[in-house]
Amino acid sequence: MEERRENWGSKLGLILAMAGNAVGLGNFWRYPYQAAKNGGGAFMIPYFAALIMLGIPLMLVEWNQGRYGGKYGHGTLGPMVYLQAREGVKPKTAAILGAIAGMFAFSVTVLLNSYYNHIIGWTLGYSYMSATGQYMDKSIKTGEFFGQYLTSPGRSLIFWIIAVAILGIAVMRGVQKGIEAWAKVMMPTIYVFGIILIIRTLTLSAPVRPDWTPIAGLDYIWSPKWNELNAKSALAAAGQIFFTLSLGMGIIQNYASYLKPDDDIVVSGLATVSLNELAEVILGGTIAIPICYAFLGPEGLSAGVGLSFVALPNIFRTMAGGRVFGTLWFLLLYFAGFTSAIAMYNYLVALLEEEMGVKRQIGSVLVFILYIVIGLPVALEPILTKKAELFYLTELDNWVGSYFLVVLGLLEVIVTGWLMGTKALDEMNRGSYWKVPNWFFNLFVRVLAPVYIIILLVSSTINYAKEGYFKLVPGFAESVPELIPWVQGARVVLLVVLVIGFVQSYRSIRRKYAEEIEAGKVIVVR
Ligand code: ALA
Repeated sequence: MEERRENWGSKLGLILAMAGNAVGLGNFWRYPYQAAKNGGGAFMIPYFAALIMLGIPLMLVEWNQGRYGGKYGHGTLGPMVYLQAREGVKPKTAAILGAIAGMFAFSVTVLLNSYYNHIIGWTLGYSYMSATGQYMDKSIKTGEFFGQYLTSPGRSLIFWIIAVAILGIAVMRGVQKGIEAWAKVMMPTIYVFGIILIIRTLTLSAPVRPDWTPIAGLDYIWSPKWNELNAKSALAAAGQIFFTLSLGMGIIQNYASYLKPDDDIVVSGLATVSLNELAEVILGGTIAIPICYAFLGPEGLSAGVGLSFVALPNIFRTMAGGRVFGTLWFLLLYFAGFTSAIAMYNYLVALLEEEMGVKRQIGSVLVFILYIVIGLPVALEPILTKKAELFYLTELDNWVGSYFLVVLGLLEVIVTGWLMGTKALDEMNRGSYWKVPNWFFNLFVRVLAPVYIIILLVSSTINYAKEGYFKLVPGFAESVPELIPWVQGARVVLLVVLVIGFVQSYRSIRRKYAEEIEAGKVIVVR
């Protein structure tokens, strides 16, 4: 039976939606503090190396898996990976590989988005509070203000629920009228707001000390400090590439599944990477870091995750027009986060639609409920403990947002590069304006990307062991015993979601391909 699936309305809409999928909080919130923390300019070397050796090949692999799976009526990763893997191994083994891939994608779209939605909620809340001038009162430190925001039930819960509800309403309308329509408005707005903020940043001169100019901030990010180039910065850079390009999440494949079988994927995939890098390196790197440098000097850049919610509000309250620029900054973050979170939301709705025959509208409501239930501990931890700490979120992020993406990326690239092999290259080039050359496929997809990911995985595992993540009580939680239950709670949730993800993906593969799994040969072909 030929499933009827929605398609993208236009090429521009597709590119903007895919760019929206990739451009997210990672570009404007995560990238600046990663770059600042890992040696400024030195970070850019492993960053660009990872972009070329991992980012581009994996992006092409994921578009390819998605379009191929879409042809068979699938929008989720389990069956997509199964279909490619069965070209190289027996259907039974392919089904297990598919189920593992589906399990990771399910965990990412459920768990990563469950806390990502909170951060979007904060950006929405801070947009509102910037516009209404609520953190402008200098008698309270912006760090304390953020702490109060997290620990008081009113604001953090309300903005989070509003943020998830808006996502739900958008997904309900479908691929063209929902996702594509919102991306067409939000994506150009992000670039316009970004340019306005850059102009404001670069015209700040030196408000505090003559040597703290925005240009000196740019210099800090761009001049390579070779002595700071080490395995840690290389790991952080590769992790950032995965996160920022939405790789190893299953959501690029989900969007690509709405393509027609002969739609171009090579140029479109490269366009997604380019638009993302423009937003990350040019906009993300030219706003937060130089502003912070101009007002707080090099010290200000050590704010880590607090760069956006603590250091920048501190600046907006002192600079001329700070309310307006604060509002623009947080709205930019909100739009960026929204267009990525919607991809994860849609993945789960597609899963309900395709696997259980649930209507999109009902599916959107069910996923809304799921996100509220699974995301609740993130909000409850600071509220109930009255501590502005996020151990539940941290534990989930250490595994899902960092480790799982890389494991899934490895599986994907091996399945496409080695199990489907040259057939995948033909498939990739079908309908493409530019062809991927043989040498690129052989060198980058089959060798460099998997080798790079294996090195990455081994070093991350060693790092994780050193930092105590594998211990019953992970290193970061040792000093705050009252928060340990939140870490353990996160681990239980993680395990349960992994098991559900595996069973669900395996069943979804068997539902359609049981006959060929039993027969041990390919039967269903399109
Ligand atoms: N790629 C998305 C981001 O950068 C997930 O936030």
